[in-house]
Amino acid sequence: MTLSMVVAVSVNGVIGRDGDLPWRLSGDLKWFKRVTMGKPIIMGRKTYDSIGRPLPGRTNIVVTRAADFAAEGVITAHSVMDAMRIGEAAAAAGKVDEVCIIGGAEIYRLFSAHADRLYLTIVHAHIEGDVSFPTLDWREWRGQSQMSISPDAKNDYAATMLMLDRIHTDK
Ligand SMILES: NC(=O)c1ccc[n+]([C@@H]2O[C@H](COP(=O)([O-])OP(=O)(O)OC[C@H]3O[C@@H](n4cnc5c(N)ncnc54)[C@H](OP(=O)(O)O)[C@@H]3O)[C@@H](O)[C@H]2O)c1
Repeated sequence: MTLSMVVAVSVNGVIGRDGDLPWRLSGDLKWFKRVTMGKPIIMGRKTYDSIGRPLPGRTNIVVTRAADFAAEGVITAHSVMDAMRIGEAAAAAGKVDEVCIIGGAEIYRLFSAHADRLYLTIVHAHIEGDVSFPTLDWREWRGQSQMSISPDAKNDYAATMLMLDRIHTDK
């Protein structure tokens, strides 16, 4: 089973502002949909709140410490292990071999040590924000760009989408 992180990051590391995305990038939303469709997605409760609804065609798993959290169309998890167990079971049931971590920052931090793959959108702008992607050891990651978008009426900034796999080295 491949555990993937899917994220869009500005060149200065920002991923969010005021509980939402700090940009409008229709091209990245399409890329996100293509990458995650049919796969279980794991997200933090704050990211779930910002999306505001379960994303269709995917098993939505929300990580929270709140014992009483419940929302229609989502499965609740209370720990990394809990979320991974639910995600792997949903992937197996759906006959897919990938589980996607879709943020936010707290959840990327919790899962980054376990991730094998990174779908990384680099947003080519310096953005002010209050949430940043955790620092990774980029020597461990290899891959290439898959597509790019230019700024236009539906995209605030240029962006490049990469798919990177973690190189497992024997230490
Ligand atoms: N650019 C991107 O690709 C991208 C992607 C996703 C999100 N975002 C942005 O990121 C921001 C949200 O990120 P965030 O870091 O503030 O929040 P988050 O990671 O989405 O969610 C944080 C919540 O996860 C739960 N949680 C954290 N650690 C836990 C643990 N060990 N066990 C159980 N539950 C745990 C807690 O929920 P409870 O408080 O309910 O206990 C916590 O408040 C927003 O601005 C959003 O738009 C950007």
